[in-house]
Amino acid sequence: MANETLGNCCSTNQKLIAWVQEMAQLCQPATVYWCDGSDEENKRLCDEMVTHGTFTRLNDQLRPGSFLARSHPSDVARVEDRTYICSQNKEDAGPTNNWADPVEMKKTLKGLFAGCMKGRTLYVIPFSMGPLDSPIAKIGIELTDSPYVVVNMRIMTRMGKNVIQKLGANGSFIPCMHSIGAPLQPGQADVPWPCEPDPKKKYIVHFPEDGAIWSYGSGYGGNALLGKKCLALRIASVLAQREGWMAEHMLILALTSPQGKKHYVAAAFPSACGKTNLAMMKPSLPGWSVRCLGDDIAWIRLGSDGRLYAMNPEYGFFGVAPGTSEKSNPYAMASITKNSIFTNVVHTQDGNVWWEDMGVPAPAKGIDWEGKDWTPDCGRKGAHPNARFTAPASQCPVIDPDWEKPEGVPISAFLFGGRRPSTIPLVNESFSWEHGVFMGSATGSETTAAALGQAGVLRRDPFAMLPFCGYNMADYFSHWLSMASRTDRSKLPKIFFVNWFRKSADGKWLWPGYGENSRVLKWICERVEGSGKAVKTPIGYVPTTDALDMSNLNISQADLTELLAIDLEGWKKEVDSVAESYAKFGGRIPEALNKELAALRDRLK
Ligand code: GTP
Ligand code: SPV
Ligand code: MN
Repeated sequence: MANETLGNCCSTNQKLIAWVQEMAQLCQPATVYWCDGSDEENKRLCDEMVTHGTFTRLNDQLRPGSFLARSHPSDVARVEDRTYICSQNKEDAGPTNNWADPVEMKKTLKGLFAGCMKGRTLYVIPFSMGPLDSPIAKIGIELTDSPYVVVNMRIMTRMGKNVIQKLGANGSFIPCMHSIGAPLQPGQADVPWPCEPDPKKKYIVHFPEDGAIWSYGSGYGGNALLGKKCLALRIASVLAQREGWMAEHMLILALTSPQGKKHYVAAAFPSACGKTNLAMMKPSLPGWSVRCLGDDIAWIRLGSDGRLYAMNPEYGFFGVAPGTSEKSNPYAMASITKNSIFTNVVHTQDGNVWWEDMGVPAPAKGIDWEGKDWTPDCGRKGAHPNARFTAPASQCPVIDPDWEKPEGVPISAFLFGGRRPSTIPLVNESFSWEHGVFMGSATGSETTAAALGQAGVLRRDPFAMLPFCGYNMADYFSHWLSMASRTDRSKLPKIFFVNWFRKSADGKWLWPGYGENSRVLKWICERVEGSGKAVKTPIGYVPTTDALDMSNLNISQADLTELLAIDLEGWKKEVDSVAESYAKFGGRIPEALNKELAALRDRLK
């Protein structure tokens, strides 16, 4: 086994070699292959997937170097109810995470993984979250039996031989074990998207004390591309608390005013609530520009100057396709013109892709995400609502020149937000750091198709981290509060709450969103710089109706007033709902946040 396992291995790291050997013995793959990250390797894997039907090559004139994949209909999104945090003590996972005893869970996993890669190749994927030269980058090694995962990880992370070199003989890594859970018996024919179809047999498991990840049964997105949610958020959040930094579900953007003043902003919105769109938005306001540094995850540290610096640990975008159009997100459209992977979208007859609200006419005929014939009038959606594109961040025409700066960029403002059809105004600003942390903790949103389960129901999603915090969420709130004692308060970012998703009584969007959100960003910039008109309300500072730049925007005064109004009755219910969410933590909520909640209740009287 030893020699077979080493195969084309070029690592001298004994810990790594021993782990790969142990896992190969457990999973019993037909072969072991160490990925080097090269173009040739990528091409070979893509060609093989075309042969096996996992990939369809798109028209080389229309989408050069790009492929379409269709997942199994059971394997279309993150599975939150199958996601576990296995800390020694249940309390350390907290009431918002699924917990299981680590010893029991390891037994379960060993059982599932035994022989799970029979007839398949075990790929060793060395990857770095963060630029290789960054002092805060983390190395992970993902073992997987899915070539789809390999080629996606190559876009989403810095992957390949360089990482093995950086790891050297003695470096440490985060072990990320992944299997689709579909061994092949001799002679058994493969299917285009092998996975474990039984939802009860999928496991996305984190051992925060060992810093290890085990994922079984799914090949989709955050379940399988383990550098993303599993490592860069769930495991990283635990490391961050231990080491005094922050791992957040945040986009990072740079906003430059017509006068040339540049501010970096980081924003946390729940899954499918607008991060990718805001991160690379094309401002409707003349003279303003937005540059993108990241669209999903930020690792944030105190710099020597006392400011918070944010760095995007990822290397690509794994973005929601439906709704992405030339009008809503032109720079995302430009990012996916080549070298991209499309999963669960419509395949058109000319070998291109299509999805709902793409802003181009639907093809007269196509193949839908389930592989069935599709016509616009057939009564079914062509793309799955959580259909995604995978594209290199470097292809974004507005990628910020500093996006790979090893130490990150200094943040001027944090934004929180969610999908709230009522109550929550377009924007408001916190009174203090503590009030801002309270706002983050109180974030709520309607659920989306990014996770399996019912979409469109309101739930609390503190800091947009509900599915991604690797430890007790109340302790995570304390960690956020503690930033104020680690630096000069005046150097901390200002905190804002935004809501692009208000609806009128007849169910229409009250706010046009997308590029028009630049009007809100402009006000935020002004507030950071000490100008920007606002009124003090019970919930925070809200712009006066003349404070937002509404030039050339067709919106009625009545709608604008509604967007900025304080709905006292709605807010009283909001406070009750936040109190209810706090009560689940059985006294572990930091006192400062209980005080903020009580103070808000008082102000609403
Ligand atoms: P994840 O990748 O799941 O973390 O999602 P995300 O937060 O990056 O969300 P994304 O930007 O992909 O947006 C998800 C959906 O929200 C898309 O269908 C968008 O069209 C829609 N959306 C984004 N921004 C706006 C907005 O300002 N207004 C409205 N009405 N919809 C928006
Ligand atoms: C999310 O759900 O927040 C995503 C997509 O960014 S996934 O990578 O599948 O988690
Ligand atoms: Mn996300």
